[in-house]
Amino acid sequence: MNILKFNSEAKLNEAAARIITSTVQVNPSAVLGLATGGTPIGIYKELVKDYNEGLVSFSRVTTFNLDEYVGLSPDHHQSYSHYMKENLFNHVDIVAERTNIPFGLADQLEEECRQYDERIEAAGRIDIQLLGLGHNGHIGFNEPEDELSSSTHVVNLAEETKQANARFFTETEEVPSQAITMGVGTILKAKMLMLVVKGADKAEIVKRALTGPVTTQCPASLLQTHPNLVVLVDEAAGSLLP
Ligand code: GLP
Repeated sequence: MNILKFNSEAKLNEAAARIITSTVQVNPSAVLGLATGGTPIGIYKELVKDYNEGLVSFSRVTTFNLDEYVGLSPDHHQSYSHYMKENLFNHVDIVAERTNIPFGLADQLEEECRQYDERIEAAGRIDIQLLGLGHNGHIGFNEPEDELSSSTHVVNLAEETKQANARFFTETEEVPSQAITMGVGTILKAKMLMLVVKGADKAEIVKRALTGPVTTQCPASLLQTHPNLVVLVDEAAGSLLP
């Protein structure tokens, strides 16, 4: 595991974006695993900048997002599908058909999950998987449980997660109770994992995830078992890390 600490959010975003950009420069057909939430927004801005400066093209890239809410249509302003278009896809030369996000309105959710894993499998291994960290140690939407699913599955969101994500919804809107998420097994199959953590409110959980016991009660702790994990933290999030 490689832990990189940055004294500014701008530097962290640049470094994270450079890792993704160089992955695509080396392999223009790279398979990227993408994340949502507040954390990656600045990283996507940097990727758009790299694209605008002619440093990288996404025209042959395939992407798979970690998760999507159940019950939101792709054009709902809080769907992760909408988020990806707003923050990245609409601003670079990526081909829409090669971007993959679980479909939260599928009639048969189990079947949607199975097909999502099949699509990942067919694309080959994910070259680099970007990850944020939930306050309770969730990755994607894999919440702390006695047992974790390895493959893509439907999950009931923890109350804590719903509350954390309520900031993105208007007052009258409900945060969905369920989501489709890649399983931890799917995430761990990626060739490289890049965990990005920002802010003092995540200092305790990132310490637990990276230096505590490997346990399903802290899904991010399973990342410790990956042979190629790079962690990017700002000073506040990394304050309790060695
Ligand atoms: C969300 C997402 C995760 C994300 C995490 C942290 O619920 N499903 O993929 O990494 O929670 O979000 P944020 O970056 O906004 O703190």
